[in-house]
Amino acid sequence: MLSALSKGFFLYLSKNKMLNRAAKKWGLKLGASQVVAGNSIEMMVGKVRELNERGLLCTLDHLGEFVNSKEEAESATAAAIQTLEAIAKEGLNSHLSVKMTQLGVDIDREFCVQNMRRILETARKYGNFVRIDMEDYSHYKVTLEILQHLRESYPNVGTVIQAYLRCAEEDMRQLQGVPLRLVKGAYKESPKVAFQSKKEIDENFIKLIKLHLLSGSYTAVATHDHQIIAQVISFVEEQSISRNQFEFQMLYGFRTEMQQNLANEGYKMRIYVPYGNDWFAYYMRRLAERPQNVSFALKGLLLK
Ligand code: FDA
Repeated sequence: MLSALSKGFFLYLSKNKMLNRAAKKWGLKLGASQVVAGNSIEMMVGKVRELNERGLLCTLDHLGEFVNSKEEAESATAAAIQTLEAIAKEGLNSHLSVKMTQLGVDIDREFCVQNMRRILETARKYGNFVRIDMEDYSHYKVTLEILQHLRESYPNVGTVIQAYLRCAEEDMRQLQGVPLRLVKGAYKESPKVAFQSKKEIDENFIKLIKLHLLSGSYTAVATHDHQIIAQVISFVEEQSISRNQFEFQMLYGFRTEMQQNLANEGYKMRIYVPYGNDWFAYYMRRLAERPQNVSFALKGLLLK
């Protein structure tokens, strides 16, 4: 039974190069279309417009990670720029999210920074904001260094801090004033660097959210966890923190009713909208996070 498969197994699949390559040719399969907003710009525009009309903000991710050549990284950069142009041309209310491995950090760090500069120049031209997603721990330090470097020239860039990392609090303190997305963390990390129990991760998550909010910095709370969301809502009310200083974020296709309710209650609610052909690793991580998500895959198989 698929649902009995472990987190480790799906994370292992997510990194399998052969499957990732093959999946690019399959189209959206295995139920992935429920959590990926299509594989073309046209489909993505339709989905984002629909979300915007319902009062939901977006951040777009043109899917892709762990590229092997400069050509692939250049084409990912071009796709990111094209996404920013589509957002402006179509009048969509959306930011952009990118990954450093997608832009070639494993091939050549300076080349990746140059790609990021091109993306940020385009974002600046259109008055938009770009978030660097945080990947596995082996890319953590380099991502923070690149972020700090880019922040010297571009105030329109931010990143993500993962609450499962033991160093998260210390690193977040160095990032005061930087707009951060705070998450629990999606990768399998060693106990040396990351908390392993839900209790420890949740406690650190809520602690980081409160600290970042109290520092006056803009905070994106990215979670589907209703208990964390309820705690954040009581905290901001208690501390009279303005609704303009934070937003909630959820992934496309997850807890859609709660997304809509929060937006209707007047909270800023941003949906992370992935699109494109390179959906396999993203989808496997979602299956790893929550065994119940496997029902998407089962439905996908049945609907074939
Ligand atoms: P978690 O999975 O811990 O669930 C807590 C509880 O919430 C569950 O026990 C259940 O009760 C309820 N729940 C959760 N999902 C539900 C559902 N679909 N339906 C019903 N109930 C549900 N990670 C990373 O490492 N780097 C990154 O850059 C990002 N970026 C990112 C952006 C956005 C917008 C989001 C929402 C998440 C990320 N993540 C991420 C992923 C993040 O680190 C984390 O792995 C997932 O969000 C899962 O953790 P949650 O906090 O959502 O709740």
